[in-house]
Amino acid sequence: MIIRTNTSGFEHPHPAEITPQGAYLQRREWLRTLAVGAVGAAAGSWASRQAFAQTSRPGVLTALAGTPSGVAGAMSMDKLTSYKDASSYNNFYEFGFDKSDPARLAHTLQTSPWTVEVEGLVKRPAKYTLEDLLKLSPMEERIYRLRCVEGWSMVIPWVGYSLAELIRKVEPTGNAKYLEFVTQTDAKTMPGLRSGSLDWPYVEGLRLDEAMHPLTLLSFGMYGEVLPKQNGAPVRLVVPWKYGFKSGKSLVKIRFVEKLPVTAWAKAAPQEYGFYSNVNPSVDHPRWSQATERRIGEEGGLLAKKRKTLMFNGYEAQVGQLYAGIDLKKFY
Ligand code: MTE
Repeated sequence: MIIRTNTSGFEHPHPAEITPQGAYLQRREWLRTLAVGAVGAAAGSWASRQAFAQTSRPGVLTALAGTPSGVAGAMSMDKLTSYKDASSYNNFYEFGFDKSDPARLAHTLQTSPWTVEVEGLVKRPAKYTLEDLLKLSPMEERIYRLRCVEGWSMVIPWVGYSLAELIRKVEPTGNAKYLEFVTQTDAKTMPGLRSGSLDWPYVEGLRLDEAMHPLTLLSFGMYGEVLPKQNGAPVRLVVPWKYGFKSGKSLVKIRFVEKLPVTAWAKAAPQEYGFYSNVNPSVDHPRWSQATERRIGEEGGLLAKKRKTLMFNGYEAQVGQLYAGIDLKKFY
């Protein structure tokens, strides 16, 4: 097992005898492709964009490779957000409300041992160790835009596989309609819990067909390495067509249920955060417009020209049919 440490306090040991031989070889191939991209032979291509991310980020966490995803829409061609921005401007309220709090404070998060319990309306309920989950399906690299309800967005190369792979293993029963995602709560290591701002644990939910959509990602890494703690180590969800808060970090439980889950944000402010929370520029948040967004790291900082937000965050071709016939103004 190779555990590299970094000097900025983000390192976390990872039970990563996990990098199986196949993944290791993939990683080497990936690095070779990067070298080609770096000499500019493939400007604008996937390889050179990865090289950009890589040069902005000397590897310090355990490597976790993924092969470029073949899922439709999974490899955005937008310019990648730098690793530095993606790992230092975060929302993870268990560690505080300021964007810099998670990077500063999440080093206390205990990510090993880690289990994710799958329960409720499934034929095969199970408690998965992180090692089991890492082996469950081959790792893919997915380049997703993620847009926060607050009006900023990032483009991140995630590593993981479709949540559908896990769902198929546990065999939902006929009456399972929704999934409830419960994330870690540990008062000893999470200073944000004391704020009482949310009714912890942080709970999110998806309809079963949304959870089964191939774009819905169970993610273990980003930028070719395991997730930094502030980004939701050791395992999180990434649902790219919904506002970022639907993507629960540091998952510990997935529950299959018949009734619409009551999410942490719906409990805190039901008039502001609906269950669906699909990115929809024509539905304003009660306190601000959702028509435009600021891409983090873009030249000009806070004064940079905003870009128009796209319906379903640009993933309409892939997910629009999930909502056919639903009034997305009413079901926001
Ligand atoms: N998951 C947990 N457990 N706690 C949180 O506070 N914040 C959400 C989501 N997942 C949050 C969470 C919000 S509001 C956003 S925008 C995304 O994580 C941000 O992910 P990032 O900080 O990794 O970009």
